[in-house]
Amino acid sequence: MNLKVVTLFANMFSAFINEGVVGRAFQNHLASISFLNPRDYADNAYGQIDDRPYGGGPGMVMQAGPLNQCIEAASKGCSETYYNIYLSPRGRLLEQQVIDELSEKKNILLLCGRYEGVDERLIAHQQMDEISIGDYVLSGGEPAAMVLIDALVRQLPGVLGHTESVGQDSFIAGLLDCPHFTRPECVLGQKVPKVLLSGDHQRIDNWRQAQSLWATKRRRPDLFAKIELSAEQQQLMQRIPEYSVAPEE
Ligand code: ADE
Repeated sequence: MNLKVVTLFANMFSAFINEGVVGRAFQNHLASISFLNPRDYADNAYGQIDDRPYGGGPGMVMQAGPLNQCIEAASKGCSETYYNIYLSPRGRLLEQQVIDELSEKKNILLLCGRYEGVDERLIAHQQMDEISIGDYVLSGGEPAAMVLIDALVRQLPGVLGHTESVGQDSFIAGLLDCPHFTRPECVLGQKVPKVLLSGDHQRIDNWRQAQSLWATKRRRPDLFAKIELSAEQQQLMQRIPEYSVAPEE
């Protein structure tokens, strides 16, 4: 997957693209990322690419012309087209399903807005897919782009080893993840659930599945309502109680 990010603040990405799972993916060439600064496409000597909004009001709006040139330059010389995304609180909500859809794309360009946003005519002209990471307003699209890139890149083949596999993730099956435990067996006045020490993989799988179902039911009743439970899942919930803290003896 090739990613291009149009941003005034490429430095914001420097730790993100060099560390952890995402950093490893870029280092191992499982994905590529580059940055374009719309100021380089300004039609004035100051690199100014924003102006006051028509109709008045506070703030500044990023201009369609230089952004368009920047986006056109991004795909120049590339045989395949780029899928253009504009990060904006007005966009469709980023959910796992959107990530799955986008992970099919080979080339993705992400436009990070600043100020009051970008001239609407750019979005129309470039037929941008507008995506929001949630119902709150950030001071710019950069953190949202990082969220999107992280969720996309970690899912690319070869990025996660099988110990970290994507299949186990929350949301992949429409359910939240089960709780996790590690050594020691007793800590902070609580014992690890006995079943996880049993070595019986079938029992452990069943327990984890039941806990995923319980967690989803309690924490995200909206998600739970969308799931059609199989007979087996219904039985698991009846048979295996919801996880609760087992006090240390
Ligand atoms: N830019 C500002 N707020 C945003 C949000 N919630 N999602 C995506 N991009 C944004």
